[in-house]
Amino acid sequence: MNRTKNETQVVPERRDEPVAAAEPSPHHRLPIRRPPARSHRPPDNARRNPPPSTRGNSPPFPSKNYFPPESHPAAPPPRANHRQPTSSTVAAHSRLASPCLASAAGGAMQPDANAPSRRLARVAAHLNPQMEEGAPALRPAACRAKGGAPGFKVAILGAAGGIGQPLSMLMKMNPLVSVLHLYDVVNTPGVTADISHMDTGAVVRGFLGAQQLDAALTGMDLVIIPAGLPRKPGMTRDDLFNKNAGIVRTLCEGVARCCPDAIVNLISNPVNSTVPIAAEVFKKSGTYNPKRLLGVTTLDVVRANTFVAEVLGVNPRDVSVPVVGGHAGVTILPLLSQVTPPSSFTQEEIKYLTNRIQNGGTEVVEAKAGAGSATLSMAFAAAKFGDACLRAMRGDAGIVECAYVASEVTELPFFATKVRLGRAGAEEILPLGPLNEFERVGLEAAKKELSESIQKGIAFVNK
Ligand SMILES: NC(=O)c1ccc[n+]([C@@H]2O[C@H](COP(=O)([O-])OP(=O)(O)OC[C@H]3O[C@@H](n4cnc5c(N)ncnc54)[C@H](O)[C@@H]3O)[C@@H](O)[C@H]2O)c1
Repeated sequence: MNRTKNETQVVPERRDEPVAAAEPSPHHRLPIRRPPARSHRPPDNARRNPPPSTRGNSPPFPSKNYFPPESHPAAPPPRANHRQPTSSTVAAHSRLASPCLASAAGGAMQPDANAPSRRLARVAAHLNPQMEEGAPALRPAACRAKGGAPGFKVAILGAAGGIGQPLSMLMKMNPLVSVLHLYDVVNTPGVTADISHMDTGAVVRGFLGAQQLDAALTGMDLVIIPAGLPRKPGMTRDDLFNKNAGIVRTLCEGVARCCPDAIVNLISNPVNSTVPIAAEVFKKSGTYNPKRLLGVTTLDVVRANTFVAEVLGVNPRDVSVPVVGGHAGVTILPLLSQVTPPSSFTQEEIKYLTNRIQNGGTEVVEAKAGAGSATLSMAFAAAKFGDACLRAMRGDAGIVECAYVASEVTELPFFATKVRLGRAGAEEILPLGPLNEFERVGLEAAKKELSESIQKGIAFVNK
């Protein structure tokens, strides 16, 4: 259908204005477009590659090819602490806010004089994320996608950064996401407008600056945090501590206030210290649940899979290397004796691989020569880990990933190992398994450095 002139003259309205208060506009004369009739036949790719929920028990990495086709995943089951809308509130909401939904529920579509302008105002709202100070925060109901795919609500904090932008794009591609909130202290309107044009199911909204943090977080199921400064050449991850510790504390205080039941994927470095910082913040607010706080170490696993596959001469998708300990230098401990498929390496190969996996971040920092640290591979890793969390939250079984979590596997309070993900987060911390002599020596070195980083994080919040 040709676009009418009126369609290009939309002035975005504030999203937080009550829908019923929208003024009639010239748009009310726009013809109502009927949605095309839906075929009951699933698309070819959906039939070839059904969503994981239809496959029974999934293997640990059910989708190394983890971008499933845009299908209709099962709606997330009710969560104990989330208020679910009753059928009457949904119907009332549909009548008020969505003529399309109202028509779907009640048969023929009744054109309403104000309906087109309401629809256009809603569509345009993501382009105008500014809210006046004191404006009411979004309620969970207002965060629910209207006309979008059923699924989970995900917030990315630091969404305009080097990791945040490609991560936002990848999460917009994830069919398990129905609402995607992009928060940063700069540039979110542009990133949000750009990403919102992708024709995938998730509804995208942008939030800019500290006064919009609460609105960005309210009602979220999963919060992914890549906010903070990246490493420059010559810097260690601990050099980032002072800047990033404060950023993580502020953002986690927001999570505790607005979505205390959300699962948090923490990316900001130094992860070895920022996870203990987040834990202390949640403890102080009385919302700490260790299962829901996950430090993202997937990039170490992704690198290990790639480098080991290079040595073995196989496809990285067929390789799985457990990486334990932490996420900095010698605390990154790849367990090459436990590689899947079972493989043996010479002593020289073990030293080369361990060194390259431990220093993969430095390899990228130096190659970028001052322009930042790993962003694209990190976004890939974070999207892969986020997808695993969402599938687990949906109820898929057998999802095992490495993550840096509260743990009793060693004497340290936090440690990265394989964890079994479930609806509540890290539901089971798996043991280290048998280590060879080289790995036992590496473990002792890792624990010594980790212990200091953990204490530094705890002390930061309690000083
Ligand atoms: N866990 C890992 O494996 C891993 C890998 C690579 C990088 N990182 C870390 O991820 C972080 C981000 O890296 P990057 O390359 O994307 O950096 P970047 O500078 O490109 O982006 C960081 C973003 O965070 C935003 N930000 C700063 N303060 C904020 C605040 N208070 N609230 C919200 N957003 C805020 C910035 O505006 C920026 O857009 C760094 O700490 C980096 O060290 C972690």
